[in-house]
Amino acid sequence: MTVALKQKLDLKQLAGLSVYHNSIYNNLLNHEAKIAVVGLGYVGLPLALEFARDFKVTGFDISQEKIDLIQQGIDPCDELESYQFQKKYINYTANESEIADARFYVVAVPTPIDKSWKPNLRALKSATASVASVLKKGDYVVFESTVYPGCTEEVCLPILESISGLEVNKDFKIGYSPERINPGDKENTLTKIKKIVSGSDKKSLEEISKVYRHIILAGIHEAPSIKVAEAAKIIENTQRDVNIALMNELSIIFEKLGVNTFDVLEAAGTKWNFLPFQPGLVGGHCISVDPYYLIEKAKEAGVDPKVIQNSRLRNETMPLHLANLVSKKLQETSKHIRGSKILIQGITFKPNVTDIRNSKVADLYECLTRMGASVEVTDPLASRDEVKREFGIDLIDAPTEDYDVVIVAVDHKEYKKQKEVFFEEIGDEKLIIVDLKSALRGQTNDFEYFSL
Ligand SMILES: NC(=O)c1ccc[n+]([C@@H]2O[C@H](COP(=O)([O-])OP(=O)(O)OC[C@H]3O[C@@H](n4cnc5c(N)ncnc54)[C@H](O)[C@@H]3O)[C@@H](O)[C@H]2O)c1
Repeated sequence: MTVALKQKLDLKQLAGLSVYHNSIYNNLLNHEAKIAVVGLGYVGLPLALEFARDFKVTGFDISQEKIDLIQQGIDPCDELESYQFQKKYINYTANESEIADARFYVVAVPTPIDKSWKPNLRALKSATASVASVLKKGDYVVFESTVYPGCTEEVCLPILESISGLEVNKDFKIGYSPERINPGDKENTLTKIKKIVSGSDKKSLEEISKVYRHIILAGIHEAPSIKVAEAAKIIENTQRDVNIALMNELSIIFEKLGVNTFDVLEAAGTKWNFLPFQPGLVGGHCISVDPYYLIEKAKEAGVDPKVIQNSRLRNETMPLHLANLVSKKLQETSKHIRGSKILIQGITFKPNVTDIRNSKVADLYECLTRMGASVEVTDPLASRDEVKREFGIDLIDAPTEDYDVVIVAVDHKEYKKQKEVFFEEIGDEKLIIVDLKSALRGQTNDFEYFSL
C-alpha cells in the first residue's frame, strides 16, 4: 500500500469516533468503500460480479492468464455468459497492491488436498497474507473457501494479525460464509441458494449479513459462530460422500446377487423417506476432497472417523473395482482384458460440465491401461489440452471401431441419446456396454449390458 493511501485511510478513521462507527454496508452502498474478491475461480468470479452490480469491486487473481480472459468478458471456468460481465462496477487485476484500497475482503481460493490426502492450505495462507499486508483499521475479511471447523480462526486469523499488527474485533473483523454453488447447475445459481454467514462478533455478523443479503435473493442464515458455519459446509459434502459410498457398496453387493442396482433404487425410491442417491465415481474439487478436511480435524480431536474414512475408501477404490468388473465380464465372453480395446465416454467429473478436476475416470483409464487394455477416451466438453496436461491422456475426436467394451462413464446429454445402431457401428455382437450412471437403461437390449 502506498504511504499516501495509508495516510488517507488513517485520517478517515480518525474522523470517526470508532473504526466501526459507520456501517461498512452503507459505505459500500454509497461507494465510499470497496470490496476486493481474492481468487476469481468458480466461486470468486460469479460472486465478484454479483457484488459489482451495486458495489465497487476489485477482482484479484494471481493468474494473469485468467485475468486476461476475464477482462475480455470470458469466464475461464466456462460457467458465465459474456453479458453477465456487463454494466458492473468492477476492475480485475493480477497485481496484489491494487486491493489495498478495499475495505471488505472476500477470500475464495482453492483448498485442495496434498498427495497424502491431507489439507493443503498453501493457497489459503498465501491469499490471507496478501490481504494481511494491506489490512487497515475498520476492514472486514470474509473467507469463503471450504475448510475444516476452526481453520479460519486457528490458521487465517493469526496470519492476519501477525502481518498487519492489528487485532481482531478491535481493529478489524472477520467472518466465514461458505459457498454452495454447484458447477454446471443453471437452476441453483449463487443468488438463489440460501447463504450461511457468520462473524467474529455481533457487529461483524450484522454487517456481513447486510452485505450478502443485498445480493442473495434466497436469503441469509446467520450461524452462531464461524466454526459452526465452517462445519455446516464440510458436512454437506461429507454427507453426500457417505451416501454415495453406501450406494456404491450396494451396487457391489447387487452385482454379486445378480440384480440391477438402479432397478432396486427405483423400487425403494417409491417410499417417501428413501433418499435418492445413486452409485457412481466421486471426483471433483468438493465431495472427493472436503471429507479429508473433516477427517484430519476429527483425528486431531482424538476421534477415529471410521464411517467417513471408509466411505472415502469405498469411493476412491471404485475405479479399480470397475476395472476388475470389466475384466470379469470380458472373461465371461471368452475375451481377455489384456489386448482388449475399450472406449471410455466422458472424463469430466460430472455430466454437462467442462470441469475435469479430480476426475475418477482418469483413475479408471489408468487401471484398465495397466491391465493391458488399449483405451480410448472421448468427451464433448472437456478441453483436450487440459486433459493432456492433467492426466496425460489424449482425447480422441470420435470413436474408432472394433471395441470390445464401451464404458459410458459420464452421463453427458450427448451420450444419453445414443441408440443401438451407434454401438453396432463401433463393435460386434459381443460388445459389452458398461453404463456407470444408467444413462442408457433399456436402450441397448442387443448387447451385454451392465450398470453400477
Ligand atoms: N467450485 C465450486 O463449485 C465450489 C463450491 C463450493 C465451495 N467451493 C470452495 O471454494 C473455494 C474456491 O474454489 P473454486 O472452485 O472457486 O477454485 P478455483 O480453482 O476455480 O479458483 C480459485 C482461484 O484462486 C486463484 N488463486 C489461488 N491462489 C491465490 C492467491 N494466493 N491469491 C489470489 N488468487 C489465488 C486461482 O488462480 C484461481 O483462479 C475452495 O475452497 C472450494 O472448495 C467451491
